[in-house]
Amino acid sequence: MLKTREQFVPDERRVVIVTGGAYGIGRAIVSRFADAGDAVVIADIDGERGQQAQQNVAGAVFKQTDVRSEEQLAELIEFTVQRFGGLDVLCNNAGIERYRRADEYTSAEWSAIVNTNFRGAFLGTKYAFPYLRKRKGCVVFISSVQAFASEKNIAVYAGTKAGLLGLMRGMALDFAPAGVRVNAVCPGATLTGMMEAALKSETDPEGALQSVAAKIPLGRIGMPEDIAHAVYFLASPQASYITGAHLTVDGGLLAGLAL
Ligand SMILES: NC(=O)c1ccc[n+]([C@@H]2O[C@H](COP(=O)([O-])OP(=O)(O)OC[C@H]3O[C@@H](n4cnc5c(N)ncnc54)[C@H](O)[C@@H]3O)[C@@H](O)[C@H]2O)c1
Repeated sequence: MLKTREQFVPDERRVVIVTGGAYGIGRAIVSRFADAGDAVVIADIDGERGQQAQQNVAGAVFKQTDVRSEEQLAELIEFTVQRFGGLDVLCNNAGIERYRRADEYTSAEWSAIVNTNFRGAFLGTKYAFPYLRKRKGCVVFISSVQAFASEKNIAVYAGTKAGLLGLMRGMALDFAPAGVRVNAVCPGATLTGMMEAALKSETDPEGALQSVAAKIPLGRIGMPEDIAHAVYFLASPQASYITGAHLTVDGGLLAGLAL
């Protein structure tokens, strides 16, 4: 029987988990959903920032979580379902990067990056799926423009971000029969703690920031809210026919060649 669009429209107040939600892009995603009246669980390793975010965002609850831990991810999902009665949206946003020439990564650094960015997103989605399927919910991965084109000294991070797109497509196919959609947002250069850390190694951080902005066709660095709006759209009923897709939010960066 043909499914109508109405079957995929969730209840008005949704329950949303944002990993890495205490800061940067994740924090903006938390606010975007909370502003719309959704119940949001901020899942972050950083206790201090997590508490601050909970205090500043009405409708948000902090649950300290290290996405490298399978046990903590399973607990996060159970906590959310017990507290709010179900789960509609999981945004796998937590991510870290380390700048190293490819041969200089230690295996501990490899594990930290892969387990946070890639394994954590897989396991979070795995534990969320039984609940998402009950409400025809959805998953949004935060990948990166680095999934498509890269820079020097960031190979492991770029590998996880490209891997996330493969994982996203595979999960989208596996979960489509249950009505669970899986998509990804690929941010370009976005002004957050991650970017501030990257700029710290520059002799002139402000000049480096301006030089990045000058290379972006729209002439500015992305703001966390730019990414949050894209995540919100992909999780909305207006995106009910979109699954297995990625949405690039980069001010036109990937549209051009750096010649
Ligand atoms: N900022 C950019 O330019 C940019 C570009 C492309 C993609 N991204 C992606 O966007 C996402 C968010 O990045 P951001 O720039 O906001 O980073 P950020 O460093 O500003 O914030 C990341 C958040 O994730 C949390 N976190 C880190 N490790 C964690 C763990 N093990 N468990 C739970 N939480 C953890 C941190 O405490 C922090 O609150 C990442 O996946 C990143 O790869 C960022």
